[in-house]
Amino acid sequence: MIGATLAGPEVRSTGEGDRAPVIQLDDVHKTYYMGADIQVHALRGISVQVEQGEFVAIMGRSGSGKSTMMNIVGCLDHPTKGRYLLDGVDVSTAPKAELADIRNRKVGFVFQSFNLVSRTSAIENVELPLIYAGVGSRERRRRAEEALEIVNLADKMKNMPNQLSGGQQQRVAIARALVNDPAIILADEPTGALDTRTAIELMGVFQDLNRERGMTIIIVTHEPDIAEFGKRVLLFGDGRIRKDYDQRQLEVLRKEHHMSELGGSAGSWMDDVHEEDAQ
Ligand SMILES: Nc1ncnc2c1ncn2[C@@H]1O[C@H](COP(=O)(O)OP(=O)(O)OP(=O)(O)O)[C@@H](O)[C@H]1O
Ligand SMILES: [Mg+2]
Repeated sequence: MIGATLAGPEVRSTGEGDRAPVIQLDDVHKTYYMGADIQVHALRGISVQVEQGEFVAIMGRSGSGKSTMMNIVGCLDHPTKGRYLLDGVDVSTAPKAELADIRNRKVGFVFQSFNLVSRTSAIENVELPLIYAGVGSRERRRRAEEALEIVNLADKMKNMPNQLSGGQQQRVAIARALVNDPAIILADEPTGALDTRTAIELMGVFQDLNRERGMTIIIVTHEPDIAEFGKRVLLFGDGRIRKDYDQRQLEVLRKEHHMSELGGSAGSWMDDVHEEDAQ
């Protein structure tokens, strides 16, 4: 459970009336050019909208373009072709410097490998985005403390990354991702380096951020158990979105699975999604 109330990032409305897409991709392609005549078509026409307050899980085989899409959505990279609107602003052709500025204000990232700055305490790590944003030191400290309280790590603020467990380090990374009150939190395999129990606990943190604060979250995962936290699941294949399961369809899958469970089969309903991928 989330322990603190946060004055900075206010709770976003998830009411039906005000649902403008936070993310809109129109026929986005990405081609990597490796030398003279080798091209990799990592994305082959992605069109998707993500609205405020959504919690999206992305699955799909290795190499299917998940990270490539996350990099574009997170303003780390440009599409080769197509259009990308972030919070209503066309960022597909923004110059690199502008892209960096937009990224700093609008996007919170969580990576598989935590990416904390070593020999820098938890709270200083969380303050980093605020330094880039030019926030004064007192305000910075206050907001970083609040963010660490949200992820239930108030008692470890002074610890260095190597004095924290993997799960705790990832909580610091989440605090750092949310301290700027971004429009969206992107997490590329955030639980990939954690054991199952810690991974499930960490997903609880994301779930609380989504449910209680209306944060828009997209996570990439290979684990059906982790994808189950999503309210929507995108299945990637070969640079395209093969399936887009909304909450209702996921509910049907869940029920069907429950039925088959009664019939004796075990496992997660999300395995059906996974199986689809393997075909
Ligand atoms: N910087 C790059 N330069 C060249 N090719 C790249 C680059 N990044 C990714 N690719 C290629 O683009 C394709 C999509 O890669 P991407 O990293 O998006 O896959 P992914 O779905 O995230 O896979 P994984 O589940 O293994 O993380 C792959 O064929 C990959 O080799
Ligand atoms: Mg990847």
